[in-house]
Amino acid sequence: MSLTFDLERRPDPASDERRAEILANPGFGVYFTDHMASATWTRDGGWHDGRIHPYGPITIMPSAAVLHYAQEVFEGLKAYRHEDGSVWSFRPEANAERMQRSARRLALPELPTDDFLASLRALVEVDEAWVPAFGTGETSLYLRPFLYASEAFLGVRPANEVTYSVIASPAGAYFPRGLKPVRLWISEHYARAGVGGTGAAKTGGNYASSLAGQLEGIEHGCDQAVFLDSATHTYIEELGGMNLFLVTDDGRLLTPELTGTILEGVTRSSILELAKDLGLEPEERRIEIQEWKDGVRDGHIREVFACGTAAVITPVGELCWDGGEAPSTAGDEGGEVTRSIRQALLDVQYGRAEDSRGWLTRLA
Ligand code: COI
Repeated sequence: MSLTFDLERRPDPASDERRAEILANPGFGVYFTDHMASATWTRDGGWHDGRIHPYGPITIMPSAAVLHYAQEVFEGLKAYRHEDGSVWSFRPEANAERMQRSARRLALPELPTDDFLASLRALVEVDEAWVPAFGTGETSLYLRPFLYASEAFLGVRPANEVTYSVIASPAGAYFPRGLKPVRLWISEHYARAGVGGTGAAKTGGNYASSLAGQLEGIEHGCDQAVFLDSATHTYIEELGGMNLFLVTDDGRLLTPELTGTILEGVTRSSILELAKDLGLEPEERRIEIQEWKDGVRDGHIREVFACGTAAVITPVGELCWDGGEAPSTAGDEGGEVTRSIRQALLDVQYGRAEDSRGWLTRLA
């Protein structure tokens, strides 16, 4: 039976003035709407108790399994306001399906796609005023569904009680410096994921394991780290929170193939589709880090960019490692291909271009 989300309205929502103040400069991941969605799963009872309730602290026992064994997965997607005032999300079924795949890998229960979509609709409906107005730059309402082992039990086994929630956060640019290219550090000591591990799942542990590499990069004057395959430290994988693309001088768009250790980004797969409209030839394969280093020097690699839901498309500048540096091909605001793919994607998301692939789903 499908979940319904009963509404418990917040008695003290943010005032119109306070909300307007936040929406004028939302940043990323700092402010949250008045409500959140939740549902509970138990081994005996399945999914039940769907509700929209005031956003606020959650109560779990100190022995809740997620706090000890990290049995959790999450998603990230956005709600966009169109010119006519309607609110849409971009390929939310793809997020629902990825959360099901992530859940299988983490031995968590799968939330059916219809219930996932119903939770988003119910939350956006009650907090619709938090979706930034059309034409206010790249602002949106970032939706963060997550699923975690809330059972109070210290034995290592799949939890018998799991909680699903969605929180929503008005969002501006993920990187406050806008399109300024990010400087990347090659993480040679730390890997993000290994073969047979959880690299393809959207689970907190992958992000936690990327932090030491990122920190090392920051210590070396970089913004982000790029991770290599853990077996040979030869092939490019991803940034930890974003996938990577390289544009060649003969019109190919290269990205590391999905080997089970890389997150299958929704933005990544959308770019592979859109590239064909822009006359580019997408190519998913293993890419040696050496090809990047050599390619930017000899002109074979013309542009590099990173992508993800939160940051959309971010130009990549210099590539740095212990004892060396490859130059940037990104100029001040990214190359021509990077900017045109970014524009094509945003135009569909904000309803400024025809949605010929049926990627948009109306939320409100
Ligand atoms: C996203 O792009 O939505 C992500 O999940 C990346 C990061 C904010 C965790």
